[in-house]
Amino acid sequence: MISEKTRQQIAQARDSFPERRSAILPSLHAVQEEVGYLSEEAIDAIAEILDLHPNDIFQVASFYSLIHTEKKGKLLVEVCVNLPCALRGADRLLEYIQEKLDLEHEGTTADGVFTFRPTIECLAACSWAPMMQVNQRYFENLTRERIDQIFEELRELAAKFPDGPVPGAEVGKVSFATERTQQ
Ligand code: FES
Repeated sequence: MISEKTRQQIAQARDSFPERRSAILPSLHAVQEEVGYLSEEAIDAIAEILDLHPNDIFQVASFYSLIHTEKKGKLLVEVCVNLPCALRGADRLLEYIQEKLDLEHEGTTADGVFTFRPTIECLAACSWAPMMQVNQRYFENLTRERIDQIFEELRELAAKFPDGPVPGAEVGKVSFATERTQQ
């Protein structure tokens, strides 16, 4: 169920564009920021507010890799493995993070805190490789020591949000999060 505040955000987006369809993307972002993913129920709610068919909403939601239609943990960790990051040790960091999260490949940790997606493509931060993004905030120049500190802080942060995803703005306050990628 999405909150009244998010419903109002969607209605505002609808009223600020000449075409209702233009409000789909901002609506998807608003729901994802609150709930963490686009459930069937959330897609129906957006469709109702925008007076569109749910399929119109789902088609957009399923097109973009940054919009998630499946439930995930409070924190989505994605490690870039393209060439510049690979040359700077992304593969070894990937294995280290998997070990830390006790995951063999991608998936969600048993406590529901982290969802790990290790195969994201270049995020245009090659000059600061290797890097990962967590709830769309960047962490760059990664080393094992940095990863230890980041994950410790992320765990503490997740405990403050028992009912849903950790807002990206809060993740942006964790050590080594970069300013320039914050929305
Ligand atoms: S290759 Fe990793 S950010 Fe570009």
